[in-house]
Amino acid sequence: PRTKAFRAALLHCLADPREVGVEASYEYFEDGLLLVEDGKVARLGAAGDLLSSLPAGTELIEYPDALITPGFIDTHIHYPQVGVMGSYGTQLLDWLETYTFPNEGRFVDPEHARAQAALFLEELLRNGTTTALVFGTVHKQSVDAFFEAAEKLDLRMIAGKVLMDRNAPDYLTDTPESGYADSRELIQRWHGKGRLHYAVTPRFAPTSTPEQLALAGKLLGEFAGLYLHTHISENKQEVEWVKTLFPERSGYLDVYDHHGLVGARSVFAHGVHLCDEECQRLGEAGSAVAFCPTSNLFLGSGLLDLARLEAHGVRVGLGTDVGGGTSFSQLTTLSEAYKVLQLQGQKLDPFKALYLATLGGARALYLDQHIGNLQPGKDADFVVLDYQATPLIAHRLGQATSLQEKLFALMMLGDDRAVRETFAAGVSVHRR
Ligand code: GUN
Ligand code: FE
Repeated sequence: PRTKAFRAALLHCLADPREVGVEASYEYFEDGLLLVEDGKVARLGAAGDLLSSLPAGTELIEYPDALITPGFIDTHIHYPQVGVMGSYGTQLLDWLETYTFPNEGRFVDPEHARAQAALFLEELLRNGTTTALVFGTVHKQSVDAFFEAAEKLDLRMIAGKVLMDRNAPDYLTDTPESGYADSRELIQRWHGKGRLHYAVTPRFAPTSTPEQLALAGKLLGEFAGLYLHTHISENKQEVEWVKTLFPERSGYLDVYDHHGLVGARSVFAHGVHLCDEECQRLGEAGSAVAFCPTSNLFLGSGLLDLARLEAHGVRVGLGTDVGGGTSFSQLTTLSEAYKVLQLQGQKLDPFKALYLATLGGARALYLDQHIGNLQPGKDADFVVLDYQATPLIAHRLGQATSLQEKLFALMMLGDDRAVRETFAAGVSVHRR
């Protein structure tokens, strides 16, 4: 098998800094070498140790003044919302009605869906994101278009058709039965194909009847390894609305729990307004929350209390929530996460930040056997970050005296321009 060797500074996480301390949480080679074979990581280490023993015919690719990290993982994003990013003046419920629903209506057209899926994946890869948990629209053709595009690039992606049978325009609703049948068909077509996985995707409690939520739970029981992907407790008006729609349930999470939707591989976006009991339940269940700081700020939703979720053992990943979110970049998202935590007296160490964007996301998605760091045997999904990305970054990083300082400044100042190249399964899929 043909081996490729990539030479640059190399950094990846081995554990959550919370569990083992910052120093033991990562591995770093200042002059590192990453060996890739058949789309997987074969070895990594110091260039000085590995260069002399490379297999004959190995192609050597060198990146001066660059840092290789694992590909970023986005645990919550909507591919049909690129066209509403940066829409003025509303909070969640008005934003959905005014901007989002009309835009999602256009995905009834498979041509439109295909064009948008291509644009979306290009933007993800430009930003160094190699795996994402993705909302489609209510139309099953939107999900076919997405998976077809992701399959061509051999990406590890999770997506699903939105289930929505009430409180939305007619042109965007399904029925409990059609939603179930369409999801089933998509699962059979895509789940487990290549590196693709399916997520059963009720939009959020207000837009599904109890009958639809029950059928979503039924689907989860019928196929192994499915995800459940939805929103929870993002906005105060939304939380109140759920109480009036489901008066018989003890709270927002209980609406999902009652229908068998709370478990490992359940990912709940936002969770800004959860109570302690709900955090505890999510922790016990092995469920994850997607922390979406740019969206929570842009839509005025609130500040996520990361320390509280972690105290309850909840898995937390980072999400851009495009198009409620304002950036595809996980670097930019980490910068906003840092500020959201600052406002609450919490700190986000740069190595913890890298963990959230990589191994933490992989753990939230139960994919850490495959992705999240660069241990041998894992998928060779990685990014080359450019220490000279912009004049400002070059200048600022030139002043930095430690890895920690460089990494932090790169996160605070960086965006897509900091991503020199992106690799998926060992193949270059974006180059600046
Ligand atoms: N809640 C229900 N639907 C959505 C959506 O599309 N985006 C966000 N941010 N929250 C939601
Ligand atoms: Fe969302």
